[in-house]
Amino acid sequence: MNTKGMKIGILTSGGDCPGLNAAIRSVGKTAILKYGMRVYGISSGFQGLINKDVVELDDKKLSGILTLGGTILGTSREKPFKNKGVLKEELSKPEIIKKNYELLNLDCIVCIGGNGTQKTAYKLSQIGLNVIGIPKTIDNDVWGTDLSFGFDSAVSIATEALDRLHTTANSHRRIMVMEVMGHHAGWLALYAGIAGGGDVILIPEIEYREENIIKYLEKRASSGKPYSIVVVAEGIQIKEKLRGESEEGRVKTSACSTIAQMIEKQTGLETRETILGYVQRGGTPSATDRILATRFGAFAAELIAKKKFGRLAALKGTDVIAIDLKETAGRIKTVPPNDPMIKEAKLIDTCFGDET
Ligand code: F6P
Repeated sequence: MNTKGMKIGILTSGGDCPGLNAAIRSVGKTAILKYGMRVYGISSGFQGLINKDVVELDDKKLSGILTLGGTILGTSREKPFKNKGVLKEELSKPEIIKKNYELLNLDCIVCIGGNGTQKTAYKLSQIGLNVIGIPKTIDNDVWGTDLSFGFDSAVSIATEALDRLHTTANSHRRIMVMEVMGHHAGWLALYAGIAGGGDVILIPEIEYREENIIKYLEKRASSGKPYSIVVVAEGIQIKEKLRGESEEGRVKTSACSTIAQMIEKQTGLETRETILGYVQRGGTPSATDRILATRFGAFAAELIAKKKFGRLAALKGTDVIAIDLKETAGRIKTVPPNDPMIKEAKLIDTCFGDET
């Protein structure tokens, strides 16, 4: 296998998450040390490919970043196929990317990102670029992999936040509503909700009825439970009339506020809101995420060495395997409403708002 002198680019795209640097380090170290390739860091996701903003990474630059949160390369939500926009020399963004890929003499680009990134990676492969995808996201919703890195760290952060809410909820005898990220998929709310002892867990995949939540919370209160914890995914389906509007009448209020206000109004129980926000995406990766990112990175570099392009590194059980980008592009892994975790959580009386 003649890999010496091959040139590869690495980019991170979409929302950041813990473990990105661990993945960059692993791709880079494997490519450089094992296969003698040259590695280039592409700045700010696909934007860096449009602007030809790259820097060569050597072994030294890749040292000491395993535990670092964020991404040393920077990231953006640039979607070159969405806003194709004719830029320089009347070329569209995908055409500029292709031209720059050729000018830089790249043999492959490793695209580390979530669903949107993998869709773009697939489209780039369709116009003739060699690409490999690595799945990352705190939402854990990349289709085709059991786990994406970033998720485990976010679950730990959200769980710790819930642990802390328990004590203050108990002191004040309040209902605490906490919102975690997850527009389409409720994995983070489900895992953190179970780990953090959430009494009510609301996720986008399960339609709730207000009366079920109210009945459940009132029953807890009347049976002597001094407080309750409600975990809400940001993307839960809320009937439009319920979502309040800001003074300007444009910006909708959060899922957290909507649910908290509804609970306080209907139960009369004092209720407080916490939106965890970007805290859940920041900071050092958990051990599980470091390991997963390292495994994906090394595997991705091996795929390049074997010239098996157009694939996504994915976890199946305990194995890292390659799946075609075509399979994952445009698909989202949501929580099946009959997921065993939901069934088990219901056995311990967790309320998902769909039943009484
Ligand atoms: O990384 C995915 C995600 O965490 C979503 O759950 C969330 O809605 C989104 O990112 C928000 O990120 P940003 O404000 O950076 O677009």
